[in-house]
Amino acid sequence: MRSYEDLNLIQMNREPQRAYYIPYDTLEKALEGNKEKSAYYKLLNGEWKFAYFERDIDVPQVIAKWDKINVPSNWQMYGYDVPYYTNINYPYPVDPPYVPDDNPCGVYSLDFDLDNKWIDRDAYIVFEGVNSCLYLYVNDILVGHSQGSHLQSEFNISKYVKEGTNNLTVKVLKWCAGSYLEDQDFFRLSGIFRDVYLLSRDKNCVKDIEIHADSKILTVSEKDYAIYDGLNKIEKLDNPILWNSEKPYLYTVIVKSFTEYIPFKVGFREVSVSERGELLINGVSVKLKGVNRHDTHPVLGHYAPYEYMKAELLKMKELNINCIRTSHYPPAPEFFNLCDEIGFYVVEETDIETHGFGTRNTGCGYDIESSDWICKQKQWENAFVERAERMVERDKNHSCIIMWSMGNESGYGSNHDAMIAWTKNRDKSRLVHYEGASLIEDKCDVDVVSRMYTSIDKIEEHATNADMRPFFLCEYSHAMGNGPGDAWDYWQTIYKYPKLIGGCVWEWADHTVLEDGVYKYGGDFREITHDGNFCCDGMVFADRSFKAGSLEVKAVYQYIKTDLQGNELSVTNLYDFTNLSEYKLIWKVQCDGQIIKGGELICDIEPHKTKKYLLDFILPKSCKLGCYLDISLMGEYEAAMEQHRLPVEIKENTCTFITSAEFIEENNSIKITGENFTYLFNKHYGNFSSLIIDGEERLAAMPKLSVWRAPTDNDRNIKYRWGLFEDNMRGENFNRIFSKVYSCELKENKIIVNGSLAGISRSPFLRFSITYEVLSYGEIKLKLQGSVKDSSVYLPRLGFEFFMPKANEEFKYYGMGPVENYIDMYHHTKVGIYESTTAKEYVPYIVPQEHGNHTKAKLVEIGGLKFTAEKEFDFNISRYSSETLTNAMHADELIESDNIIVRIDYKNSGIGSNSCGPELLEKYRLMEKDIKFEFSIAPMNKI
Ligand code: GAL
Ligand code: MG
Repeated sequence: MRSYEDLNLIQMNREPQRAYYIPYDTLEKALEGNKEKSAYYKLLNGEWKFAYFERDIDVPQVIAKWDKINVPSNWQMYGYDVPYYTNINYPYPVDPPYVPDDNPCGVYSLDFDLDNKWIDRDAYIVFEGVNSCLYLYVNDILVGHSQGSHLQSEFNISKYVKEGTNNLTVKVLKWCAGSYLEDQDFFRLSGIFRDVYLLSRDKNCVKDIEIHADSKILTVSEKDYAIYDGLNKIEKLDNPILWNSEKPYLYTVIVKSFTEYIPFKVGFREVSVSERGELLINGVSVKLKGVNRHDTHPVLGHYAPYEYMKAELLKMKELNINCIRTSHYPPAPEFFNLCDEIGFYVVEETDIETHGFGTRNTGCGYDIESSDWICKQKQWENAFVERAERMVERDKNHSCIIMWSMGNESGYGSNHDAMIAWTKNRDKSRLVHYEGASLIEDKCDVDVVSRMYTSIDKIEEHATNADMRPFFLCEYSHAMGNGPGDAWDYWQTIYKYPKLIGGCVWEWADHTVLEDGVYKYGGDFREITHDGNFCCDGMVFADRSFKAGSLEVKAVYQYIKTDLQGNELSVTNLYDFTNLSEYKLIWKVQCDGQIIKGGELICDIEPHKTKKYLLDFILPKSCKLGCYLDISLMGEYEAAMEQHRLPVEIKENTCTFITSAEFIEENNSIKITGENFTYLFNKHYGNFSSLIIDGEERLAAMPKLSVWRAPTDNDRNIKYRWGLFEDNMRGENFNRIFSKVYSCELKENKIIVNGSLAGISRSPFLRFSITYEVLSYGEIKLKLQGSVKDSSVYLPRLGFEFFMPKANEEFKYYGMGPVENYIDMYHHTKVGIYESTTAKEYVPYIVPQEHGNHTKAKLVEIGGLKFTAEKEFDFNISRYSSETLTNAMHADELIESDNIIVRIDYKNSGIGSNSCGPELLEKYRLMEKDIKFEFSIAPMNKI
C-alpha cells in the first residue's frame, strides 16, 4: 500500500481546521477588509515552476527541466494530461482504497522571500484547494501532506523557513484514497486550483474564533472584540438590524488578539422550523428559490476567481434566486463572504460523493445493504467525518449558511450517522440535510427531508404526509440544453404547502472546456468511459449568458403575483422581507401590439400581503389580434413581469370581395392566378411548387407537412420512441418519414389532398385531408384535418415547413416573444408585436437541438408572405433544418441551410426536464388524435 492509499495517513501535520479569516496588522485595514493590504498576508498565486509526470514513480530526486504554470489552475487546462468527464463511473476500478499504479504527478516549485519581520513571527501556508492530494516540502524538507480537494489545508512552516529566499515544492498526485470520496459528476481535473497564501501570525495568536449572531445576541469566542456598523464603533448593540437574503445587513466584528486584528462580517439571523414544517428565517416562512452551483469555467477549469464568483452571484440575484446549494463540495471560502454580502441562503455541502459504488458491479445500483459501500466501513469513518468537520469549522461563522449537507449520492451507512451526529452536536444553529437518507426512508437524524427530481405528484405526497420535517428538493428541473420546462408547475405546488420549502434547480452553468473556439464535453478528450454532454446542464451557458430556461426560472421565482378582475388588479408581494414600494409597478394595456394606456404604481404592500388597485383604462370594443395587460416590476432592472389577457372581442378583417382566384389544371399541376400572382400546385405531391407574387418567387422549395424536431436534451429518452436512432425497433421513425398523397382533386375552386405520413418500416401515423382555397387577391386558406393512429407515441410537433429564399432574414410576428418559448416554458415572454432575424432566433446550445419556437402566434410576416390564423399557432424561423440540428454534435458542425425554414405549427410539444427529471407532463404533449388546423398565407401588402 502506498502512503496516499493509507486511510491512516490522510494527512500529516495539517493544522486543525479553524474558521476562515485573515489577520491584519492595523484596525483600519481590518475594517477595510482588503486582505492584500494586510502585512500578515502574502498571496503566492502567480507563475510557478512546474513539471508533469505521467507516473509519480518517475519523479526524480532532482528535477532538471521545469515548465511554467499559473497557480491556481488545473494542469489539464494547460495541456498536461486531458480533461476527463465522467458522471457516476469512477475513471478507474472500484477497489478502495487503491488507485491506479500509474498515478500522474505534478510537481510545483516556487521561491519566495521572507524578511525578518516574518521570521520573528510564525509562518503558515494555506492551500484552499488542491486536487487530489498534496505533499508539501519547504527548503527540501517534507512538512506534511493532506487530502480533500475542496477543503482547506494549512501548515505551520515556521520551523522550516529562514530569512531571505526560501523554496516551496508541492507534489500533487492525480489520485489518492480520497478520490473515492470525490466522485462528483464533473470534469476530473487536477492540481493546485485555488489560492495559496502565507500568513504571518503572532506567536501567541488565537487559533480558532467562533461567532454566533442569532436575532438578538452576539457571542464571540474571544473576549477582546468590538462591533462596528460600517466604520462606526458600537458600544452596545441592543436591537441589531437583522440579516436576510433580501436585506443582507452586516456588522463587522473585529477580534483583537495580540498584534492581530481579525475581522468578520456578521449578520444577525435565526434559522428554525415551524410546527408546520416551514423553514423560518427570523421567524418568517421562507421558500428556497435555489440553484446548484459547481466551480466550473470553460477556460479556468475548477478555479473560480473572486470577481468571477461575484459576477455569477449578481447574475443569480438578477434571476430572483435566493438560495445556493454548493454542489457537491465547499467552494473557496471567500464565496461565503460574497453570499453574506449579496444575500443568499446557502446549503453548504461537504466534499463527499461515492456514486460510483452504484456501478462497481453491473446493475448493482444503490445496494446499500452491501458492506462494499465505504459509508459502512469503520476504516473510512474518520475520512468521512473529517470532511464534514473541516467544512463546518471553516465556514461556521457565516450568516448565509443555513443548512449543512453531508455530501451527495454516497449511499447511506454508519459513517453518515457519525457525520450527522458530529455536525448536529457541533452546530445547533443550522439544519442538516443529506439526500441519501432517502435510501433509508429518511429514518435518521436529518432535519430536512430531501429528494432529487421527484415528480410533482410525489412532492405533493410528501407535503401531506405525517413527517413534519421540511421537504427540500435539493435538485429538480434538470436544466440541460433547451430547458427546463417544468419549473412553473413545481412552484404551483410548492407555494401550496407550507412544508415544501423549495428547491434547487440542477444546475447553475454548463460545464464545458473551450478549445479552439468550440465548447467541448465528455468524449471530446477520448475518455475511456464518459457521459457525453451530461455535464452541459446549466440554466445559464458556460459564459454565464442567459437562455430561455434562465429567464423562465427567473419568472417562476419572481416575487409578485398579480390577478386581474375587470379593472381591478390584485398584487401579492411574495418577498419575505421587502415592501413592494421599493419597486415601481408599471402597467400597460396593449391592443394588437400597440400600447393604448398605461401607468405606474408604487405598491405599498408588506411581505406576503395582497392589495388591490383599480387601473384606469377602457377596453376597446374589438380588436384584430388580441388585447393584453402587461405588468412589470421595475427596480434597477425588471424584477418581475406578468401578462393578462383582456376580454376584448377579436374581429377578423373581413374582405368584402371574396372571389376565388382562377384555377387551370394542366397535367400534373394546377396553375392559380389572380391580382399580381401566379401559383403552381403540384398534384403528385399535393403541395405548392411555386408562389410568384409581384413577379418574385417566394418559395425556395416545396413546403412539407412534418412532425420532427431536433431532439432537445430533455427529449433524450422520448427521442427513441419518436425517431430512428441506434435502436430500430422502438421508434415511430418520425425522423425518416414518407409523405404519401392518395388523391389530389380540384373541386369547385378548392384543391383537396388526401394523404398520410409514415415513418420508415411503420404504418402511417397520420392520415390527413388538406383543403386549399385561393382567393382572387392571392390569399391561400389552408385547412388540415388529420387523425393520428391510436398506437402512436405523442408527436414532437406538427405543422408545415415552408422553405423561403435566403434573402429573407428579417421578419415580424405577433405572438409570444421576444425570446423562444414553448407550451410549458413561456412565463418569461409576452404576447406582442416583435421584429426579429434568423440570426437572433438561433440559440447556441452546446449540443445543437430544437430551439426558437414561439407560441400563441397569430401573425408572421416574412419574405412578402403573411401567415395568419384565427386560432393561435406555434412558429419557428431558422437557418438550420431539423435534420442538421439533429445530426450536429457541436455548434461548429452546424451548416446553414440554403433556405430559410419557416415552420407554421399546429402545436409543438413542451420541453419538461426529462434529461434527468420526470417525464413531460401529459398536458404538454401533443397527444390529440383528431387534429384541425387552419391558417392563411397571403401576399403581405394585400390585407
Ligand atoms: C444528480 C447528481 C448531480 C448530477 C445530476 C445530473 O443525480 O446529484 O451531481 O449528476 O444528477 O446532471
Ligand atoms: Mg452523481
